[in-house]
Amino acid sequence: MPVNTPIDATTTDAWTSLTGHQQELVPDLRGWFATDPARAERLTRTVGDLHVDLSKNLVTDETLRLLVALADQVGLEDRIEAMVRGDRINVTEDRAVLHTALRRPAGAEPPLVVDGQDVDADVQAELTKMYAFADEVRSGRWTGITGKPVRTVVNIGIGGSDLGPVMAYEALAPYVQDGLEVRFVSNIDPSDVAETVAGLDPETTLFIVASKTFGTLETLTNARLARAWLWERLAAAGAIGDTDEARTQAVARHFVAVSTALDKVAAFGIDPANAFGFWDWVGGRYSLDSAIGTSLAIAVGPAAFGEMLAGFHTVDEHLRTAPFDQNVPVLMGLLNVWYVNFLGAHTHAVLPYAQHLHRFPAYLQQLTMESNGKSVRWDGSPVTTDTGEIFWGEPGTNGQHAFYQLIHQGTRLIPADFIAVATPAHPLRDAAAGDVDVHELFLANFFAQTKALAFGKTAEEVRAEGTAEDVVPARVFSGNRPTTSVLAPALTPGVLGQLIALYEHITFVQGVVWGIDSFDQWGVELGKKLALEIAPAVAGDRGAVAEQDPSTRGLIEYYLAHRTR
Ligand code: F6P
Repeated sequence: MPVNTPIDATTTDAWTSLTGHQQELVPDLRGWFATDPARAERLTRTVGDLHVDLSKNLVTDETLRLLVALADQVGLEDRIEAMVRGDRINVTEDRAVLHTALRRPAGAEPPLVVDGQDVDADVQAELTKMYAFADEVRSGRWTGITGKPVRTVVNIGIGGSDLGPVMAYEALAPYVQDGLEVRFVSNIDPSDVAETVAGLDPETTLFIVASKTFGTLETLTNARLARAWLWERLAAAGAIGDTDEARTQAVARHFVAVSTALDKVAAFGIDPANAFGFWDWVGGRYSLDSAIGTSLAIAVGPAAFGEMLAGFHTVDEHLRTAPFDQNVPVLMGLLNVWYVNFLGAHTHAVLPYAQHLHRFPAYLQQLTMESNGKSVRWDGSPVTTDTGEIFWGEPGTNGQHAFYQLIHQGTRLIPADFIAVATPAHPLRDAAAGDVDVHELFLANFFAQTKALAFGKTAEEVRAEGTAEDVVPARVFSGNRPTTSVLAPALTPGVLGQLIALYEHITFVQGVVWGIDSFDQWGVELGKKLALEIAPAVAGDRGAVAEQDPSTRGLIEYYLAHRTR
């Protein structure tokens, strides 16, 4: 199919108007709130259970109007429709992009048929299989080779085959079945697998090898190391004999796989009957809600997993149907464009005030930066403006005692998303401090931070506190530091699904404005290839060492001179 040329956002009337608007706009959150008491209410939106206050952003109604016009003029509506109906919008890999199909409810009408294939039926069949397996493990009916039920699941995967599952497992910790634990191995640093399996009982451990391609060096290496560990420990415990047949039987009870490449799963020695599939139209970083989430489904159970999928779907429907000026992912994506392309922001902080979301920023880093860190558009032409900003973050309040200084008083503009829930998993009170509700204290920090960032503190206010004049400048806060506040009732599976889908679609919206293919990731390939080429040099092959550039050669020589085993 011929590749259509993206509309160049910078040539639109809306872009021209935004450029002029930016030159005239003097950000003044203090003034805007003082003269416009309805601002907060007018700039707050909801999607599903999420309450999203956009009012502390550096925008006026006119800014938002122009941003929505930009979305219209780059054809965002058509792109959304193209994605959800299964057009091959991942043009560089010639693939459809259908993660939204993974969370369509059973029996959705009309059914989603792509290239003659009933996608809904495929998704439901695989979900049913995954749920049945999860129930087997959770009930103890699935046993290891010595008949013992599974106590620990070890997910072996990297990138999208790790970050989503581990983030969601941590987020939904209160929903994890008692007596079950999931651990995650991702890094090819041997310390990762060694320390993850340390202390585990091989008889009660189940490994899930999660890899879309089943060709990823890290995952296959770790899977082989885990298999060797299993065989060795089972043999040492007298649970299996020293025969190939015994080892095959051990793998059959202690290894399952999740992949789109079931032939490679079989070649690794995992029975295809113990494999869960998905499809090339699910990008790795969009795959948590496919069978890549098997470890999560085991931990929290099919019902909670289903609630999470329903949360995703709520936001998918909102993306598709809400007018753009009410559409939360569209507005948040456009705000990011505003900050990157018109106000010069290079980074974006995501600050969850929910300890259970402590891996959410790491998860978002892959989602956003692997998607939108591109210099060419989907037709191969150079981008016409800056693209993907750097996403980063840590949970509050930890970040407050680390990097917030720079957000408050540094020279860089750093838009930040603050995320919190009203009801904590652990409603503890500090009796010794006057029976303080600790979660309330936590939320007071959230509200205080967004307030301080927006409104700052003037020199007059600092002086009025009796501050010595020479210290006044250091204690002034300029304010006008933009934030979006996202609140939800509680961190339920449904809310988690909504949050993830929200950021998936924010990322998509930005990619559409920039005209890039947000679903490929060619930028990770060169390093992978070079690592394999350099490996002989690192192993001491002098000829291979000599072929390296002087810097790389020097580094390898240092390594060779200092390694001890
Ligand atoms: O190297 C990048 C990447 O391809 C990611 O996009 C992907 O999530 C990760 O590697 C893991 O890939 P796989 O699931 O195929 O092992």
